[in-house]
Amino acid sequence: MRSPDRFLLLFLSTQLCLRSLVAEPFDYPTAAPSTSWTNNPSLENNFTYADGSMVRAILLCSSNPSFEGLSFAAGFFCNAACDAFLFAVFIVYTDSGAVIMDPVMTASPQVVWSANRDRPVRENATLHFTEDGNLVLRDADSTVVWSTNTSGRSVLGMNITASGNLLLFDRKNASIWQSFDHPTDSLVPGQTLREGQRLIANISTTNWTRGQFYLTVLADGLSAFVDSSPPQVYYIRSFSGPEAKNKSAYVTFTNGSLEFFDSFTKRGVPDENITLPSASSVQHMRLESDGHLNVYGWSYQTGWNVVDDVTSQELDNCAYPTVCGEYGICSNNGQCSCPGGTNSGSNYFRPINARQPNLGCSPVIPLSCQSLQDHQLVALQDVTYFSSLLAVEYGTYFPSVASLNLKTEESCKQACLKNCSCKAAIFQYGQNTSDHGSCFLPWQLFSLMNNQPTVTHYNSTLYVKVQIVPRTTNGTLNSPTSRKKVMGVGVILGSTIGALFAVLLVVGLFVLFMRKKNSNMEEEDQFDQVPGMPTRFSFEELKVATKNFCKKLGEGGFGSVFEGELGDMRVAVKRLDGIGQGKKEFLAEVETIGSIHHVYLVRLIGFCAERSYRLLVYEHMCNGSLDQWIFYRNQDVSLDWQTRCRIITHIAKALSYLHEECRQRIAHLDIKPQNILLDDNFNAKVSDFGLAKMIDRDQSHVMTRMRGTPGYLAPEWLTSRITEKVDIYSFGVVVMEIVCGRKNLDYSQSEESFHLISLLQEKVKEDRLLDLIDNHSNDMHLHHEEVIEIMQLAMWCLQIDSNKRPSMSTVVKVLEGAMNVETCLDYNFVTTTPVMSSNVNHLDASPQQSASLLSGPR
Ligand SMILES: *[C@@H]1O[C@H](CO)[C@@H](O)[C@H](O)[C@H]1NC(C)=O
Ligand SMILES: *[C@@H]1O[C@H](CO)[C@@H](O)[C@H](O)[C@H]1NC(C)=O
Ligand SMILES: *[C@@H]1O[C@H](CO)[C@@H](O)[C@H](O)[C@H]1NC(C)=O
Ligand SMILES: *[C@@H]1O[C@H](CO)[C@@H](O)[C@H](O)[C@H]1NC(C)=O
Ligand SMILES: *[C@@H]1O[C@H](CO)[C@@H](O)[C@H](O)[C@H]1NC(C)=O
Ligand SMILES: *[C@@H]1O[C@H](CO)[C@@H](O)[C@H](O)[C@H]1NC(C)=O
Ligand SMILES: *[C@@H]1O[C@H](CO)[C@@H](O)[C@H](O)[C@H]1NC(C)=O
Ligand SMILES: *[C@@H]1O[C@H](CO)[C@@H](O)[C@H](O)[C@H]1NC(C)=O
Ligand SMILES: *[C@@H]1O[C@H](CO)[C@@H](O)[C@H](O)[C@H]1NC(C)=O
Ligand SMILES: *[C@@H]1O[C@H](CO)[C@@H](O)[C@H](O)[C@H]1NC(C)=O
Ligand SMILES: *[C@@H]1O[C@H](CO)[C@@H](O)[C@H](O)[C@H]1NC(C)=O
Repeated sequence: MRSPDRFLLLFLSTQLCLRSLVAEPFDYPTAAPSTSWTNNPSLENNFTYADGSMVRAILLCSSNPSFEGLSFAAGFFCNAACDAFLFAVFIVYTDSGAVIMDPVMTASPQVVWSANRDRPVRENATLHFTEDGNLVLRDADSTVVWSTNTSGRSVLGMNITASGNLLLFDRKNASIWQSFDHPTDSLVPGQTLREGQRLIANISTTNWTRGQFYLTVLADGLSAFVDSSPPQVYYIRSFSGPEAKNKSAYVTFTNGSLEFFDSFTKRGVPDENITLPSASSVQHMRLESDGHLNVYGWSYQTGWNVVDDVTSQELDNCAYPTVCGEYGICSNNGQCSCPGGTNSGSNYFRPINARQPNLGCSPVIPLSCQSLQDHQLVALQDVTYFSSLLAVEYGTYFPSVASLNLKTEESCKQACLKNCSCKAAIFQYGQNTSDHGSCFLPWQLFSLMNNQPTVTHYNSTLYVKVQIVPRTTNGTLNSPTSRKKVMGVGVILGSTIGALFAVLLVVGLFVLFMRKKNSNMEEEDQFDQVPGMPTRFSFEELKVATKNFCKKLGEGGFGSVFEGELGDMRVAVKRLDGIGQGKKEFLAEVETIGSIHHVYLVRLIGFCAERSYRLLVYEHMCNGSLDQWIFYRNQDVSLDWQTRCRIITHIAKALSYLHEECRQRIAHLDIKPQNILLDDNFNAKVSDFGLAKMIDRDQSHVMTRMRGTPGYLAPEWLTSRITEKVDIYSFGVVVMEIVCGRKNLDYSQSEESFHLISLLQEKVKEDRLLDLIDNHSNDMHLHHEEVIEIMQLAMWCLQIDSNKRPSMSTVVKVLEGAMNVETCLDYNFVTTTPVMSSNVNHLDASPQQSASLLSGPR
């Protein structure tokens, strides 16, 4: 399939693409009509990423020199589960031969456009570029899923441009159809969002069906909405102030800013820009399923990361519509609770899931339009609503969401009670007492915002609608029509039934109340009484102990660590981020970790599981983490050979205990110097064990991700089953770092030696291991024979075949002199090294390297 494409290329490619075309056979940005591609292994430029996602490229333009190895490609893409594919445009990393690869081993392809993402296709789906110039996507069963509808419009070819635009062009090179005109949830640099066009977010992070958030350009600015009927606005960036301009407008994503234009100023004079971090290479911008607008940037150390969140430049965390689900109240930047708490609202709402307060709340008695007379408005104290604030400021532009003609609080409430669809009445007082207020009547009530006077205080009142009568089994008693009938029959009968009804109501409410109370009590009890656990602290206690988290000791993969004092004991308090699991699971994990005691493992003293806070309290280690001592960042003090040797032995014993001796086998999965702490006598203790498992219980998308840190990852992360052997590989890397006094991946070194393990491979073959010993320390050189022996041990641990690595108990025996290092070692530690080295700005790396990449583990 490639050869005809390439042929056409000779005539069609841009200058940019031409440059690499001459040299590189795999760059193929263009295709001619009468071609079809089937989504199966016949698409050869494919790559499976560590998280399980896969791309199969059809068109690829790898030649924008400023992208430093990143390329736009069009083809089939499947996400982590890989059970469904999209025809998409994505950004991938390619080597100098335009072969897709992943230099950081944790990246995933970045999808910036896709065809009909509501309807993914299967293996063997086909993309057909028909003779008459139509591009059609058919699923494996031949149903048409998507088409550009460009038959008969003299399409001459299709190409992917260096800026990521998929386009069909005619004889005059004029664009007949282009993906930039049909944005999905992302923008790439140079792409424009025009008035009326929308970016629509995924429904969730694991499902690319179009969800409820969208970003659009209106005549007066950029706005983000949550779709309900009518849509509610939560973000506005106006061109210049709240005055309408009535001009056709657009926004362009450029390197470093979002530029605003209106069509009257065709000269391209922007009215207002949003400043973004400027990029060294390609960026893209994506509307997330939680309503944030994130800018992603690429780095060789860490792959793709969020470098900016555009909406949060103006919005508080609580101002996102779904942050606490429907009816949930958001306070303190993300704590969720239900309306009520201690006041009258408490009987009306309950959490949808008590363990996950961010899912929101539901009315205990659902609102029913059959019994409108039983609707009531309950005032919620110190609460306001995201959209009402904007509606007041910009109300005239959003007549659908704000009823501005209702000038008093009372008329606002009445209007809500009269309309069954209205879920709440929010009345916002004017700035001055003379100003009229405004009334906001949402038909769907998303998250509420705490409006404590201490924070920015909005003078508004919020009433939420509730149903006061519990519906009986079949609506016969309390439906308005039947009640009228009853009254007609006679007052006595009527009042009897009325009394009966009242009794039913009281009993009903009582039962409901008791049930709710019981379930709450059960839960709390369960949480509090777990025997044999480390001490449980309240969040307040830990806040005091750490002086409001003021002194940060470090930051790890799972959260930040703060210094604290409990009584006269110094402690390290770890605040975990992004643990989605419920309290029960968390407590089970804490119990496990708390029951593991070993002299070379950092001891867990206590924990806190309150609301969504999850904290762990560890013993404090005076000398901090090992990396501070071996990489010479802060101090010039150099550890002597004895100390280094002891530290290595302690780590080995700790891992041997975790792997082989303790009740529950534990693989650490993130062994690195930052996780090895030193006490005042330089005894080493391993920290962060057990956390990998805790995080794994998190949502499924995290579960499929790779764990660990680049530089310490064993090769089998890419391919096979993960066992505790990955720790042994990481241990080998750490040992090399300790004896060489440098990081495994050290980009400040020259290109040949930035990767220590590659250097080791080279030196051991040349028999020049001495070159590697830490030059800061004479003591190390004095003991060079022992140091070389330890390097041999490290090399045993670094075997690519995990079965050839020693067990941790064997390592301990070697360190104690009871055993010798295996003599028959494989001195190739890095089949993947070429991947690593070709990423450092040297796209012209020799072609043999990519050949070995291809045969390397995928
Ligand atoms: C169309 O673009 C190609 C590649 O940039 C160029 O070689 C060709 O001359 C262009 N054709 C016309 C009619 O402009
Ligand atoms: C990837 O392409 C190769 C040919 O280069 C093919 O053998 C292999 O099956 C393909 N893999 C997938 C998953 O499509
Ligand atoms: C795809 O088509 C090929 C050839 O027709 C067939 O061998 C293969 O089983 C199909 N794969 C699937 C998943 O249907
Ligand atoms: C092509 O036409 C169909 C039917 O009119 C329509 O549903 C579809 O959205 C069109 N496709 C594009 C890309 O405009
Ligand atoms: C892609 O098509 C556009 C429009 O015809 C043209 O300007 C551009 O040069 C083409 N690029 C390639 C790589 O053929
Ligand atoms: C959208 O869903 C797809 C499919 O699960 C996923 O790969 C992608 O990361 C999601 N994107 C966002 C912005 O959540
Ligand atoms: C994605 O969400 C849609 C709408 O809620 C649902 O119909 C579909 O089954 C979901 N797909 C997956 C793979 O979960
Ligand atoms: C802009 O103004 C013109 C005339 O004043 C009016 O007809 C048109 O509907 C307005 N457009 C918008 C988008 O408000
Ligand atoms: C917006 O950005 C462009 C390009 O970076 C710059 O030329 C222009 O002056 C900026 N406009 C404003 C109002 O900051
Ligand atoms: C809110 O506005 C009302 C009416 O203007 C006024 O009576 C009340 O004092 C204001 N409250 C605050 C806290 O500003
Ligand atoms: C209520 O009763 C009617 C007639 O007895 C029946 O058709 C209907 O399904 C019932 N509704 C409910 C919600 O049980």
